[in-house]
Amino acid sequence: MAPTFFSFFFCCVVSIYLTLVPFAVANSEGDALYAFKQSLSDPDNVLQSWDATLVSPCTWFHVTCQDNSVTRVDLGNLNLSGHLVPDLGNLHSLQYLELYENNIQGTIPEELGNLQSLISLDLYHNNVSGSIPSSLGNLKNLRFLRLNNNHLTGQIPKSLSTLPNLKVLDVSNNNLCGPIPTSGPFEHIPLDNFENNPRLEGPELLGLVNYDTNCS
Ligand SMILES: *[C@@H]1O[C@H](CO)[C@@H](O)[C@H](O)[C@H]1NC(C)=O
Ligand SMILES: *[C@@H]1O[C@H](CO)[C@@H](O)[C@H](O)[C@H]1NC(C)=O
Repeated sequence: MAPTFFSFFFCCVVSIYLTLVPFAVANSEGDALYAFKQSLSDPDNVLQSWDATLVSPCTWFHVTCQDNSVTRVDLGNLNLSGHLVPDLGNLHSLQYLELYENNIQGTIPEELGNLQSLISLDLYHNNVSGSIPSSLGNLKNLRFLRLNNNHLTGQIPKSLSTLPNLKVLDVSNNNLCGPIPTSGPFEHIPLDNFENNPRLEGPELLGLVNYDTNCS
């Protein structure tokens, strides 16, 4: 009698656990997105469907999933203000983070360098400040990095020149300084995509100027 009861009990616990684990994983992505929602001001209520009590964020508007994991966040031009949050670095399957043409301020969290699947990071036309984290050099799948028209300072991290798939980089209209890297993907990026950074030194000047020692 007792062994039967215990194996039945054990079997139930195991199957309940196996049933819930995928939702727990999906929910950690929901938690990350909900933390982002809470740091945003959303005057047009475009994030109304982002309900933290749902088991998964895959039914939320502006969120796309594949195999129950978040692959896209599309929040371009939605009148959002507020800050990015480190929690976004937990979206392990995220391929597209589209936040362009809002009024997002504050810095780019270095945790975005954990997004191993990321193909596109679009933050152009916002009010982002601080420096470009060198951790973005870990994003081996990254193809599009558009950070133009913000208030970024500091140097372009050398780590970005190791990105094997980077095709489009635009950092124009910021306040970056120091040298523009010359190797890897930087060989093919037009100089226009660096313009209007008053203290950025073009590669044609390499060796001919003393770089601004205040640039860090
Ligand atoms: C954007 O939000 C502001 C309030 O912060 C509002 O006055 C304005 O109408 C909104 N613009 C659009 C295009 O929805
Ligand atoms: C941009 O962000 C700064 C703080 O970093 C703030 O003082 C400024 O008002 C913001 N600009 C706009 C247009 O919201």
